[in-house]
Amino acid sequence: MKRQASLIYLLVLCSFSNGQSSPEIVPVQRGFSGSGVTTRYWDCCKPSCAWQIPQTNVKTPVESCQIDGVNPIDFNDQSGCDDNGVAYMCNDQQAWVINDTLSYGFVAASFSGGSDLSQCCHCVLLSFQGRLLGKHLLAQITNTGSDLYQNHFDIAIPGGGLGIFKRGCMTQWNTTETGWGQEIGGVTSEAECSELPAALQRGCDWRFEFLEGVDNPDVLFQEVECPAELTAITKCVSLS
Ligand SMILES: *[C@@H]1O[C@H](CO)[C@@H](O)[C@H](O)[C@H]1NC(C)=O
Ligand SMILES: *[C@@H]1O[C@H](CO)[C@@H](O)[C@H](O)[C@H]1NC(C)=O
Repeated sequence: MKRQASLIYLLVLCSFSNGQSSPEIVPVQRGFSGSGVTTRYWDCCKPSCAWQIPQTNVKTPVESCQIDGVNPIDFNDQSGCDDNGVAYMCNDQQAWVINDTLSYGFVAASFSGGSDLSQCCHCVLLSFQGRLLGKHLLAQITNTGSDLYQNHFDIAIPGGGLGIFKRGCMTQWNTTETGWGQEIGGVTSEAECSELPAALQRGCDWRFEFLEGVDNPDVLFQEVECPAELTAITKCVSLS
């Protein structure tokens, strides 16, 4: 008993000895992998994996929120990016830092080019290349995009640009038609993150701190098991 307790103590001590956590990352056997590209977006829209439709192959869709970005809304409610829509991206579906080389977050993804619902709620480890070599984003796939290429990961970053949907952030946060910063790419400095609602500033800052402001870094990607921290936020688990 005592021995076991001290072993556990030792393990805990090891994983936090540098003041940083090192969660286990588990690759999925025969999961998808390859090299890909990234972009960034935050259009405030209900994500595509948040519908109760067979193509998403999920038990429960990704949670979407009421206009406050906090309280959940029914899966059948129309997206706030469509006329009379009331469902929006939840504020907490933005990235955060786990340790100096690892963050958790959420992405829209396409493996085939164009809208691709087949991998909804699967998780992927993105290993950044170039200047960010050695840094990783472990992300759950919550969204798709008709404007995405093959092996393309569009990282959910508040203030990262609206992309093709203009209406969501206007109705949810009273932004102008171009949102925060530029329509494509969003704000251009961390100082501009202060223009975002307080609830979204953390994810905006993440781009300039963890991602060091690097513009659309290339990645290697590998499917991994979803950490409980991510599925606790989206409530979504894939069936396949
Ligand atoms: C961050 O966590 C990952 C995954 O456990 C680990 O491989 C890596 O060494 C950690 N990085 C730091 C700087 O602690
Ligand atoms: C947006 O503007 C409307 C009307 O002026 C106001 O009622 C609402 O509180 C504003 N929302 C935010 C998030 O500022």
